[in-house]
Amino acid sequence: MFDSFGYPGTQSSVFQCFAADCRYIKDLSRFWFCMPTLSIDAERLRDRFDTFNEIGATEDGGVNRPSLSAANKTARDTLVDWFRNAGLTVEVDEMGNIFGRRTGRDPDADAVLFGSHIDSQYNGGRYDGVVGVLGGLEVIETLNDRGIETDRPLEVVAWSNEEGVRFQPDMLGSGVYTGVFDLDYAYDREDKTGATFGEELDRIGYSGERPCEADDLHCYFELHVEQGPFLEDAGLSVGVVEGVFGFSWLDVTFEGQANHAGPTPMDMRHDAFVAVADVTRAVRGITATGGTDLVGTVGSVDVWPNAINVIPERVEFTIDFRSSDTDAIEAAVDRIRDEIEWAAKREGVDYTIEEIMRIEADPFDEGCIETVEAAATDAGCEYTRLVSGAGHDATYLNAIVPTSMIFVPSVDGISHRESEYTEWEDVALGTDVLYRTVKKAASKTS
Ligand code: GLV
Ligand code: MN
Ligand code: MN
Repeated sequence: MFDSFGYPGTQSSVFQCFAADCRYIKDLSRFWFCMPTLSIDAERLRDRFDTFNEIGATEDGGVNRPSLSAANKTARDTLVDWFRNAGLTVEVDEMGNIFGRRTGRDPDADAVLFGSHIDSQYNGGRYDGVVGVLGGLEVIETLNDRGIETDRPLEVVAWSNEEGVRFQPDMLGSGVYTGVFDLDYAYDREDKTGATFGEELDRIGYSGERPCEADDLHCYFELHVEQGPFLEDAGLSVGVVEGVFGFSWLDVTFEGQANHAGPTPMDMRHDAFVAVADVTRAVRGITATGGTDLVGTVGSVDVWPNAINVIPERVEFTIDFRSSDTDAIEAAVDRIRDEIEWAAKREGVDYTIEEIMRIEADPFDEGCIETVEAAATDAGCEYTRLVSGAGHDATYLNAIVPTSMIFVPSVDGISHRESEYTEWEDVALGTDVLYRTVKKAASKTS
């Protein structure tokens, strides 16, 4: 739980009224007044970013590289090549997490780990995850260019199945690595066609030899796009992340009776979809009253038989609740359980509820947060602290090793959509902050 509520919603009211009219001016001023000389090579990073995003590119400017798909395999192969060309020693673990290691002056010292993920949503954006992995590689390239040897070893990582869109739950690779899930549980996760994570990992040749368990680590950092509106509204290029919203994911099934859509009188129906409609409306009601930053979504709905003239017999759907306040999530889950029961009674259908994931809101390490702040100050940019509404592998890493994240703005707060976009200057500046952060963390004297 966060002691002082770091989510910048309170600040944003000031920014928002200003933002509506002055966004263009603020964007310009952000780049005029806060464009320090970069240590990293922004052009090299951009070339890589564009090349990488040709893999699985969609017509509308996004990418389609869900976990363990053919495009995800090509993206992995490309990354491994680039890691090797940058002089990194590459290892793939039993979950398909990809690590590239650069040794340090003290090769036995605990390593500084940084990275993100390269799986995408179905028809997702080009930035989500990729910025953190290619930004991590750019950190290595910059150290190589400058002939800098760090005290501690460095590892860049691309985690498997962060998105949780093909195989639930999300953050499966980092979840096994940190001991939240066991390997067999992860291998048995099925996509909607019944293919398991384990089979698919084998099929694409990324079931590695390295045991999927935590190394001796000094700390973990992740650069990511914000995926929300606050940095842009604040006119800032960098956010220093204090923690991630907690969340609960529920799988719910209603089982009613199929029947003919014409002759069946309304009072004889047991329509599973009507119950879902009631619950969806209840989610909206709970979030309106349940806590300051509580959000809730019914995002995936599968209906059987899904025919125009048949009353829906069975519906499987998901509920996603998130908040920085663990009690608000707890209360929301309790209330929706009641709503599901009442909806089932009203419609005369059966139901099951499975909570497939619960993560507590947990603040990041103050020392790591301060390291990122110091790096942002060195980079000459203004920043704000904020809490992430999106889930990240950093959440699981934080439970075992000091962790923080760096955010760069998402234009119009859009993410998990093909139109996801971040100004290139912001990606470059965020990567520069990552470079400075890693350098500081990898020094045994600072
Ligand atoms: C992952 O992107 C999530 O926040 O669900
Ligand atoms: Mn992500
Ligand atoms: Mn995502």
